[in-house]
Amino acid sequence: MNDTLLFMRQLISRPLQVSAMAPSSRFLGKAMAKDLGPHTGRVVEFGPGTGRLTEGILNAGVAPENLTLFEMNPEFVTYLRDRFPGVTVHLAGAESAPQMVEKGVGAVISGVPLLSMPMALRRTIMAAAFEILRPDGVYVQFTYRGRPALEESQIKSLGLTWKQTAFVPLNLPPARVHTFRRA
Ligand SMILES: C[S@@+](CC[C@H](N)C(=O)[O-])C[C@H]1O[C@@H](n2cnc3c(N)ncnc32)[C@H](O)[C@@H]1O
Repeated sequence: MNDTLLFMRQLISRPLQVSAMAPSSRFLGKAMAKDLGPHTGRVVEFGPGTGRLTEGILNAGVAPENLTLFEMNPEFVTYLRDRFPGVTVHLAGAESAPQMVEKGVGAVISGVPLLSMPMALRRTIMAAAFEILRPDGVYVQFTYRGRPALEESQIKSLGLTWKQTAFVPLNLPPARVHTFRRA
């Protein structure tokens, strides 16, 4: 089955969890991974779906053995394990990353639909990312809206800063890339 068809079928069966009308474009995959490379070390991806951002991460030069994925949908996990040999794929929520990944990760690339989640879960997921990230590590999140996934006060309380690092019109819908780091 091709990845768009698989994505659409999962969107119909689990609309809240998938929460996007189509897989990300390769332009968004490239923008999300633009500062990554072999120098980044270990990379974790949250919510890879059918792997459009995973492709961008690997194309940027991250070695498969340095990439770990957290995906909650078993159909996507089966597809990802087959499509990306050498990459570690966990059937688990992003929020469980600190229990499953050693600290010292260089970047967390996230496609989880944070803005569709309750505020407490958004904060838990961001906090989980920064628990495994090394001090100069970055959390990169795409969004279809202009604002970040957390309130400014929550971003501050986690000790973070953020900026928009890309706008990708060639995506359905157009997307923004927000990069968070420790202040
Ligand atoms: C908007 S889709 C993005 C898929 C893919 N990253 C892309 O850009 O095409 C959101 C993905 O996040 C996954 N997801 C939702 N909640 C999650 C969670 N708590 N932890 C890990 N993955 C999650 C969904 O199953 C889905 O694959």
